[in-house]
Amino acid sequence: MKSVLVVLALCIAACGGSKSKDSGSTGKVSAIEAMGITPPDSPWDEMSVADKEFYMIGKINPIMKELFTAHDAEEYGDFDCVDCHGEEMREINFKMPAPSMYIVPPEGTPGHRGMLSTFPDEVKFMQEVVTPSMGKLLGIEDYTCAGCHPSEAPKKKSTVPNKKSSKTRG
Ligand code: HEC
Ligand code: HEC
Repeated sequence: MKSVLVVLALCIAACGGSKSKDSGSTGKVSAIEAMGITPPDSPWDEMSVADKEFYMIGKINPIMKELFTAHDAEEYGDFDCVDCHGEEMREINFKMPAPSMYIVPPEGTPGHRGMLSTFPDEVKFMQEVVTPSMGKLLGIEDYTCAGCHPSEAPKKKSTVPNKKSSKTRG
C-alpha cells in the first residue's frame, strides 16, 4: 500500500503540469498513466521470449524510465534497457540478473550494511518503488533485488567492470 502511495507521489511529481494536453508544448504522455503498473495479459512465465521483449520495450522500459527519472532526472535521464540488462545484454540474451550489475550482498552481511550506508537513498527507492513495481509489471509476487542484481561476484576472475565504465555507450 505504501509503495502505491510512493508511486502516485512520484507520478504527480513526474507528470506535474503535463495534464494540459491541449497546450501542445511537449505532447508527452505518461506511460504510467497510459498503461498503469499492471501485470501482463498472460503469465510472464508462459510468454515467448519475443513477447517478453515486446513487453519490455512497450511497457516495462517506458514505465521504469518514468520512475527512475522521477527519482533522479539527472542520473537517469537516458535510462534504457542497458541500465538493467548491462552492456553485454545482447551477448547474454538478456539473461537476468546481468553479471555487470551492482552486487546486492545478502542481508545481515557486512557488505549489506555497507550498501545501506553508502546508498541510503538508492536502497530506499529500490525497496519502495523499483522492486514492488517490477513485481507488479511482471505479475510475480515477492519480487526481490535478486531479480535484477547479482548477490555475489561472478565465479570467474575478479575483474568485474565497475558500474561507471559499464555505462558508457558507443
Ligand atoms: C527496470 C529493469 C529493466 C529494464 C529497463 C528492461 N528490462 Fe528486460 N528484463 C528485466 C528483468 C528483471 C527480466 C527478467 C524477468 C524475470 O524473468 O524474472 C527481463 C527480461 C527480459 C527479456 C526476456 C529474457 C528471457 O530470455 O527470458 C528480454 C528479451 C528483455 N528483458 C529485453 C529488454 C529490452 C529490449 C529492454 C529495453 C527496451 C528491457 N528489457 C528493459 C528488467 C528490465
Ligand atoms: C527491476 C530491477 C531492479 C530491482 C528489482 C532492484 N534494482 Fe537496484 N538498481 C536497478 C537499476 C536499473 C539501477 C541503476 C543502475 C545504473 O545506474 O546503471 C539500480 C541501482 C541500485 C543501487 C545503486 C548502485 C550504484 O552503483 O549506484 C543500489 C545500492 C541498488 N540498486 C540496490 C538495490 C536493492 C537493495 C534492491 C532490492 C531491495 C534493488 N536494488 C532492486 C534495478 C533494480
